[in-house]
Amino acid sequence: MDSLMKLISVWSRKGGASKTTLALNLAGLASSKGLKVLLIDDDPQGSSTWLAERGRLPFEVMSSWPNERPTEFDVVFVDYPPRTDDTPAGDTVIIPYRPTALDFSAVSSFITKLSETKKVIEVVTQLDRRLKEPMEFAIDKKSKGAHWMVNRSVYQRAASEATTVFDPNFSNISGSREARTELEIIFREAMNE
Ligand SMILES: Nc1ncnc2c1ncn2[C@@H]1O[C@H](COP(=O)(O)OP(=O)(O)OP(=O)(O)O)[C@@H](O)[C@H]1O
Ligand SMILES: [Mg+2]
Repeated sequence: MDSLMKLISVWSRKGGASKTTLALNLAGLASSKGLKVLLIDDDPQGSSTWLAERGRLPFEVMSSWPNERPTEFDVVFVDYPPRTDDTPAGDTVIIPYRPTALDFSAVSSFITKLSETKKVIEVVTQLDRRLKEPMEFAIDKKSKGAHWMVNRSVYQRAASEATTVFDPNFSNISGSREARTELEIIFREAMNE
């Protein structure tokens, strides 16, 4: 692939960890910055592909890996399926997990292993800030470098409208500004900015 192109995998063997939500919204963010963005939907469930077919996303989504290396994109995100045995592609991988010790235990050995060869960005997802245990868990992870993606209805609302929180129609919706800010922090780290 083009050496300037950035490939960012969103990967976890755990189901429902927010992989697709992160991949879609980070792609929406990159696109809102004027970057040419491709999202590869590596998941046979095809959630990203299904959403893209509604026609509101400002970036391209491919439902499988292209045969030829794409060169026309600035950044490529890969939305991995759960329970995959595939190693995440590229040198940057975002690993989301929900804020419980059990969820983390499902990915901790992969984080250690992948960190030997890749930049691993941990994201504590679906965090409910009103709950004591998840918050204590998330604060501990943050002190070790993880980012947060808070539980926000705006993410579900954007998905139900087949778009992302970076859709201009979402700029004034409650929680959207905070969602954009937390995604920007994750994106900057992934892009080494
Ligand atoms: N930060 C969030 N706030 C609110 N809802 C969220 C958030 N992140 C994800 N969700 C919701 O949680 C559910 C699971 O998220 P998502 O589909 O992104 O996970 P996934 O890791 O891609 O799942 P799978 O392993 O099945 O591919 C979805 O209904 C999504 O809308
Ligand atoms: Mg998914």
